[in-house]
This record gives sequence, structure tokens and C-alpha cells, in this order.
Amino acid sequence: MKLLLSLWLVFVIGIVDGEVDYDYFYLVLQWPGSYCNTGKVTCYDDAWEYRFTLHGMWPQKDGQGVSCPGSPDFHFNEVQSGSNNLLGRMDRWWPSFNAAHKRSNKPFWNTEWKKHGTCTSFTQSEYFEKAISRAEYLNLYLILFKAGIRPGMQTYTSEIKNEIEMTFNLKPRIQCNEDQYGTVQLYEITFCVDKTGTQFLNCTYSAACNREPIVFPRTYYQSTAQQCSYRS
Ligand SMILES: *[C@@H]1O[C@H](CO)[C@@H](O)[C@H](O)[C@H]1NC(C)=O
Repeated sequence: MKLLLSLWLVFVIGIVDGEVDYDYFYLVLQWPGSYCNTGKVTCYDDAWEYRFTLHGMWPQKDGQGVSCPGSPDFHFNEVQSGSNNLLGRMDRWWPSFNAAHKRSNKPFWNTEWKKHGTCTSFTQSEYFEKAISRAEYLNLYLILFKAGIRPGMQTYTSEIKNEIEMTFNLKPRIQCNEDQYGTVQLYEITFCVDKTGTQFLNCTYSAACNREPIVFPRTYYQSTAQQCSYRS
């Protein structure tokens, strides 16, 4: 009886807290060009960034995504009032390119918070802050660009993964998809982060993309002049 009661308490407290059991996070960064060129989603006309932007930070358990309670609701006011220019950094690192969102990033943040953030015991500003700080730290586009890995026609096999492993001493997961013509391309680069959302971990994985060679496609709107601005 005592055992049942304490189990029941753990259950109730667990629910009140909103926290679901998970071991670590996938921090998923996407290449905007490969999100927008599949023919499956319509991006707004000038949707591009020289940045791997956040798709999300997803709690994982035993190598699987966990399903989250979906509440509390996303409160824009909370992130808006976040310190260290949280909102500006979210616009920069976690934008939505989906034309259906009518240039608002809020629907994307709302979905990600509900689907993944509500598993954590973080406040909303904590959750977004943690993900953004990790993305800022990685600054992936620049790391790859400096290594000569740039959007274009060239194909890659293990170079992208190797460069990341060399730079950060971390194993990422590389995800690929196909553009509208069936060309296999770099889509997402995922890092593993511990439960607290602060320490990177090596991802243990069976390779997510096993369809090399892949291209790192230009974003449709990308011009040569703008590409040059990263040269030092
Ligand atoms: C990840 O793996 C590399 C190579 O095996 C190792 O040197 C590094 O310390 C590991 N990093 C973490 C955070 O465990």
C-alpha cells in the first residue's frame, strides 16, 4: 500500500512537473536550402540564410524521440521578455522559411515547444536559450566554409562529418534528403546534448545518411557576391 502510494505520488508529481523521462537531446540544425528545394514545402521568396538554423532540440530516450504532454502552451510573451536579446537571437537562429507561416516565426516555435519542449522542466525562455546558445557556439556554416566546404555543385562523402569531428571532437549525425529532382543532399546536422541542455555528447548512431555522395546545395537565391563576403 505504501509502495503504491509513493508510486502514485511520483506519477502525479511527474505530471505536474510536465517532465517526461529522457536521456539526452538531439540538437537538429538544418540547411535552409535543402529544406526549401524539395518541392514539398513552399518557402517564402527570399528565404535563405548563410546559417544552419535550428529545426529543434528534441528529447530522446533509448535512441528514440519521446512524446511530450503538449502543455503548457507556448507563451510568446515569455520569450519576448527573455534576457540577452533572446528574441532577436531566435529570429536569427530559429527562423521559419515556410511561406504558410506568413513570415512569422511564432508558429514554428509554438510547434517545437509543444512537441518537444514540454517534455522538459525548463521554462520556455530557458529551453530556447539553451538551444540557441548551442547553435551559436557551433556556428557551423562558418566552420565548414573555412574548411572549403561550401554550397555549390561539389559532392561530399565523409568530409563534412570529418571536419565537424575534427573541429569539435564530437560525432554528429548527418541527415540527407532529396531535392525536387532527386539529387541527394545535405539536409540536417544533428548534435547530441545532455539532459541539462548544456554539454555536448557524442551521438551514438548508425549513420543517418548512407547515400553519399551528397551535395551541399546552394540556396536558390544565393548570389556569388554574397558568398564572397565570408572570405577573410
Ligand atoms: C567523443 O569521441 C571522441 C573520439 O572518440 C573523444 O575524443 C571525445 O572525448 C568524445 N567526446 C565526448 C564529449 O564524449
